[in-house]
Amino acid sequence: NDCGPMILDALIKIKNEQDPTLTFRRSCREGICGSCAMNIDGGNTLACLKPIEGSSTKIYPLPHMYVVKDLVPDMQNFYDQYKSIKPWLMQKEERDDKSGENLQTIADRKKLDGMYECILCACCSTSCPSYWWNADKYLGPAVLMQAYRWIDDSRDTMTNERLADLDDAFKLYRCHTIMNCTKTCPKHLNPGKAIAQIKKKISEMH
Ligand code: SF4
Ligand code: F3S
Ligand code: FES
Repeated sequence: NDCGPMILDALIKIKNEQDPTLTFRRSCREGICGSCAMNIDGGNTLACLKPIEGSSTKIYPLPHMYVVKDLVPDMQNFYDQYKSIKPWLMQKEERDDKSGENLQTIADRKKLDGMYECILCACCSTSCPSYWWNADKYLGPAVLMQAYRWIDDSRDTMTNERLADLDDAFKLYRCHTIMNCTKTCPKHLNPGKAIAQIKKKISEMH
């Protein structure tokens, strides 16, 4: 009764009162920074959004990641992969509009709903068996959904180049529609669907 309701509260209590060496990442404690991702009772999720249930709970670091210490995985490969998809707005030509604004219709803006909310927690990628076996070459669902977030952005004019870059047996096509990614996402997003859309757009290009 003297502990907050979430798994993260329990971890903080253990660290404060029982074992100060216990190591985990956390910051916002409200499901927005993505740093407290871990495997709790068999599912990847955010410790700050997962209520304490039952009398015992098994907690592991995110699966198939190199572990730095306790519940802290090494995220370097994940961040390098994110960087590789150039997660920023790119335009081939200078715009005439000197106001500095990148206008977008309401309908085009709506296409980004369900993607811009991703907090890059990596719960999805580390739940994907294809990512477990080929994390060095397969980009995984989190990074692929971010790639699609820019492909589907009406303001970005590098769409074909982005698609051509993903058209690769390992980077994209290691996704076999297993859908663990969508099932586990603590933000209720659908990276599996975004990957299917990339595959569809590439097939339309050929
Ligand atoms: Fe996390 Fe969901 Fe984004 Fe994957 S899609 S990184 S599970 S928020
Ligand atoms: Fe993996 Fe999701 Fe594809 S679990 S295989 S990325 S649909
Ligand atoms: Fe930020 Fe959990 S502490 S998402």
